[in-house]
Amino acid sequence: MKRVFVTRRLPEPVEARFARSFDTVWNVDDRRLSPADVAAACEGMDGLVINASERLDAAAVTGLPASLKAVATYSVGHEHLDLNALQARGIPVVYTPDVLSATVADDAMLLMLGAARRAREGQALIVEGRWTGWGPRQLIGTEVTGKRLGIFGMGRIGREIARRARAFDMEIGYHNRRPLEPEAGLFFADEGAFLARTDILVIAAPASPETRHWLNAERIARLPKGALAVNIARGSLVDDEALIAAVESGHLAGAGLDVFDGEPNIHPGYLRADRIYVQPHIGSSTMETRLAMAERAITGLEALFQGRDPPNRLV
Ligand code: DGY
Repeated sequence: MKRVFVTRRLPEPVEARFARSFDTVWNVDDRRLSPADVAAACEGMDGLVINASERLDAAAVTGLPASLKAVATYSVGHEHLDLNALQARGIPVVYTPDVLSATVADDAMLLMLGAARRAREGQALIVEGRWTGWGPRQLIGTEVTGKRLGIFGMGRIGREIARRARAFDMEIGYHNRRPLEPEAGLFFADEGAFLARTDILVIAAPASPETRHWLNAERIARLPKGALAVNIARGSLVDDEALIAAVESGHLAGAGLDVFDGEPNIHPGYLRADRIYVQPHIGSSTMETRLAMAERAITGLEALFQGRDPPNRLV
């Protein structure tokens, strides 16, 4: 059996699935590892399964042992890996696309509805014992049905979000590098026009140096007053100061965020801005999805070990 190191503890059935295919070594105390720790833990391993909570930068890739033949990231996002450095070392990498799109899209709807219907404030009212009973002025929200949805990044997850949003009679618009087939929705090549017609913005684009702080004060100002913003991609796409200020000033009616820049050390403004519905990066956290991600990672690694070229290979 090939020896594989996994950087985080996985749900029990997922660990059992890995153990059927590999001689698996776990990061037993589930401590977040530095890039150097990850490289050191790979000593004597054939494979590495890394999570989005760990990074492999160029220096760590240099430190990877000669025994290491393949890497799988247990994620669809891969900005935590220096793919160029891995490619230069001749270490192939697989990831887990497709299988989490539906679950993450479900979560985008939850964030959208949570922001629109002020779920955080309602929850707090009850669990903090402050609710004094029904009132017609209480927690007036924003209707989602029939609104103009704007998806930034119409990839696999974006398309799944659009599919769900159609059931809410939403008008789908998107801003992408390229237009898709006409049924996908209204394509906006022009970013300003895209933002100006968007009532509910969902960020579903990958993290990259180009998309860092994409949602900044200037772009927020182009959204109509009372718009909502949702982020299920990566925290780095949002300028936290600008988003918090826009929600506090009332320019945005609210926001729904599953991901944060520098998480878990989130901007302190998120602790007080109760119109911002927050979640601790759990967009893909369902057992069904975790198992399906494992299947993709395992079959990808097995293919690489056998010298085959799996469809989920990144480099
Ligand atoms: C992903 O797969 O990229 C999720 O955000 C979990 O890391």
